[in-house]
Amino acid sequence: PDGGASQSDAQVQFPTCVCLQVEKHLEPFRLSLEKLQDVSARLRKDMLRGLGKHAHHRAAVKMLPTFVRATPDGTEKGDFLALDLGGTNFRVLHVRVLEEEQRVLKMDSQICAIPQEIMLGTGEKLFDHIAACLAEFLDSQKLRGQTLPLGFTFSFPCEQKEIDKSILIRWTKGFNCSGVEGEDVVRLLKEAIHRRGDYDIGSVAMVNDTVGTMMSCGYRDQSCEIGMIIGTGTNACYMEEMKNVKRVEGEDGRMCINTEWGGFGDDGSLKDILTEFDEEVDKTSINPGVHTFEKMISGMYLGEIVRLVLLKLTEEKLLFKGCPSEALLTPGSFETKFISEIEDGLENAKKILTKLALDWDLVDACVARLVCDTVSSRSARLCAAALATIANRIRTNRGLDHLKTTVGVDGTVYRKHPNFSDELQAAVRLLAPKCDVSFLISEDGSGKGAAMVTAVAQRLALHCMLNFL
Ligand code: BGC
Repeated sequence: PDGGASQSDAQVQFPTCVCLQVEKHLEPFRLSLEKLQDVSARLRKDMLRGLGKHAHHRAAVKMLPTFVRATPDGTEKGDFLALDLGGTNFRVLHVRVLEEEQRVLKMDSQICAIPQEIMLGTGEKLFDHIAACLAEFLDSQKLRGQTLPLGFTFSFPCEQKEIDKSILIRWTKGFNCSGVEGEDVVRLLKEAIHRRGDYDIGSVAMVNDTVGTMMSCGYRDQSCEIGMIIGTGTNACYMEEMKNVKRVEGEDGRMCINTEWGGFGDDGSLKDILTEFDEEVDKTSINPGVHTFEKMISGMYLGEIVRLVLLKLTEEKLLFKGCPSEALLTPGSFETKFISEIEDGLENAKKILTKLALDWDLVDACVARLVCDTVSSRSARLCAAALATIANRIRTNRGLDHLKTTVGVDGTVYRKHPNFSDELQAAVRLLAPKCDVSFLISEDGSGKGAAMVTAVAQRLALHCMLNFL
């Protein structure tokens, strides 16, 4: 067919030869259930290595202690500030936790853009920018005179020494500010505020976005013990038994572990499932060789994987009459949101291919949709394998035949893609058959969750002090 004007979607038949040749390129993305079980077994071993006292230095999956020792119990209360850095935007929030109504209210919030030159500039400039945004927000809220406790959602891998001491291991997701890796992020924030000298903040609690997500959902559902993000980046955290967290003193109770599963495969353990397109995405990224798993899954990379596949199929004359457009040849031009739009309907596919100045026909539009579906399905199934590993671990940790648990989840890919969540949940059911996993979408985990972490830390500190007295 050509032009695609009159033929209905249902009538489209792929010519068999096109089908076979396209399939040759898509086949490496299709992971069988056995392969996913195998990936899950590898992650299980890597998680153990990450939890170990000595092996963790070399571990690809970092399993970082967060010093969050409890999920909310409903008695938390007070006013808090929250900062959220690490997604698409930087935000400042004023959050109120109401004990009587068991509610977390976002009083107000402000978004500040982080320009590219700040994302790639010096750390000092980045923290000055953050301190300036916070000052502006405090003024607009008339909060400057109060020293409110602050929850800082900083969504990058950090070696946390205490709830308020957190060393950045490495930047991810397109950030690369100099002089921050290896430094305490809380100290850098406080120094920037002191450099200004016109306001102050109270105690600080550092929070990964996965932890914020788990904690904000934990307030609504107390069986929420896993937090997961599938957005610009991907990661998960969960409540681990203290006796297994060899790096932190103490045997009793639990601690939330930030798995940093995005780094899975950085030691080469996923080589057999990487496609030539994944290798290309890694090579051209600003952090080659790291965050291998994240690069197969998250929003920052999915669009680029699809672009590379479409380009390859065009070079092989299987698409667009063998003619790529300028746009298709440009890295980053195929946005991840196009994947959701294209999978949502063939009409969208036609619009997007036209926008990319491609000379398409109806078969091309269907093939493009198939490529999007294949790449996003792999992402959902890999996430499911990783999530099933965590659920299975919690179940065996507790010696249970059957575990009922809830995952707090957030991120644009999970929220916006038309069938990502269904596919992920179906695969989790197959990969963790003895676990009954429910999913709760977090309502602003990075903001309200950061306040919850701060509130729970205050509750535990008060409890500790009362015991001492
Ligand atoms: C970071 C994680 C974060 C995840 C989701 C990853 O790139 O390393 O710390 O939780 O993105 O935002």
